[in-house]
Amino acid sequence: MNSFGIRFRFTTFGESHGKALGCVVDGVPAGLELDEAFIQSELDRRKPGKTKFETARKEDDAVEILSGVFEGKTTGTPIAMVIFNKNQKSKDYSNIKDVFRPGHADFTYFHKYGIRDYRGGGRSSARETAARVAAGAVAKLMLKELGVEFFSGISEIDGIEAENFDYEYAKKSEIFALDSQMEAAQKEAVLRAKNAHDSVGGVVRVLIKNAPVGLGEPMYYKLDAVLADAMMGINAVKAVEIGDGCLSSKSRGSQNNDQIRSNGFTSNHAGGILGGIGNGEDIVLNVYFKPTPSIFQKQHTITTSGEEVDFELKGRHDPCVAIRGSVVAESMAALVIADMVLLNMGRTIEGVKNYYKG
Ligand SMILES: Cc1cc2nc3c(=O)[nH]c(=O)nc-3n(C[C@H](O)[C@H](O)[C@H](O)COP(=O)(O)O)c2cc1C
Repeated sequence: MNSFGIRFRFTTFGESHGKALGCVVDGVPAGLELDEAFIQSELDRRKPGKTKFETARKEDDAVEILSGVFEGKTTGTPIAMVIFNKNQKSKDYSNIKDVFRPGHADFTYFHKYGIRDYRGGGRSSARETAARVAAGAVAKLMLKELGVEFFSGISEIDGIEAENFDYEYAKKSEIFALDSQMEAAQKEAVLRAKNAHDSVGGVVRVLIKNAPVGLGEPMYYKLDAVLADAMMGINAVKAVEIGDGCLSSKSRGSQNNDQIRSNGFTSNHAGGILGGIGNGEDIVLNVYFKPTPSIFQKQHTITTSGEEVDFELKGRHDPCVAIRGSVVAESMAALVIADMVLLNMGRTIEGVKNYYKG
């Protein structure tokens, strides 16, 4: 189960401290100009070690495209991309070789597979999300042809909430902050936690603009359900909201309904999705990340043989995973929309006739 999507489908491989990680993207239409510099720039947004608000592990995350492209254009065959790991320090993890980190996947992976890949958590490490970002960049390139755009940023850190959502500002911010007024306090919260050998949680907001009306299958592949699946599948994500989300359970129908006029909806409480189908409005998601599990304080746990121990972790970790999680959430959103766009093409006989008979 390392694949996601039906028509636009990607599979990832690799571990945190293995030789490399990467992905195979299948279903990309032929003839798409594959802008390698764009794919790399997306990886650069996610790569670790850029600022003091992130893990000190430095990785170039330089992507190599192995297949599926000829003379700069996609060939309709699988696109394989690889990123070699450069800055692994497995010895950072030697003191947790036989213990399970509270809050991480060590305990569950060991009980499922009987193997303790202590080097950075192996496949459970969010290093795998670099491959999702590479695949997401291909999805974005395809969707750019239709005018669909993706944005994201940090709306909340440690309970400090954005009041404005400026996606252009977020692109320049060291922590991808959406609200310049809240940025300093949010940064301070990250550094305070880091200095206390602790971590903080945060919320990422994703915005999808110009997605065509009609995306999403009405029963078992609903647009909101698949977006939620994609977001919940990101490491450390614990909740997802579409549009007003949880707030809508507290409001009245008269407040929550988006009124319709000939030129569109007058509000967007629904977050761009009705009945599992995109309504053409902005699609808005709030993605909730828990605090990084790997902290540098004394904690109680057990060893692989069941012995109770106290331990203190060493190594390099993000003090707030939501920051780098922002581009990952945006990429997963692009992968879902790309799949939905291709799936939607056969929805009416007119559409099928147009394609075959012109
Ligand atoms: C971009 C990103 C970076 C992350 N970096 C770390 C990290 O440095 N240390 C850590 O313990 N967890 C990190 N995580 C979170 C863990 O991978 C995650 O909590 C763990 O796999 C357990 O899964 P769960 O929290 O979804 O239950 C990161 C998550 C993301 C999205």
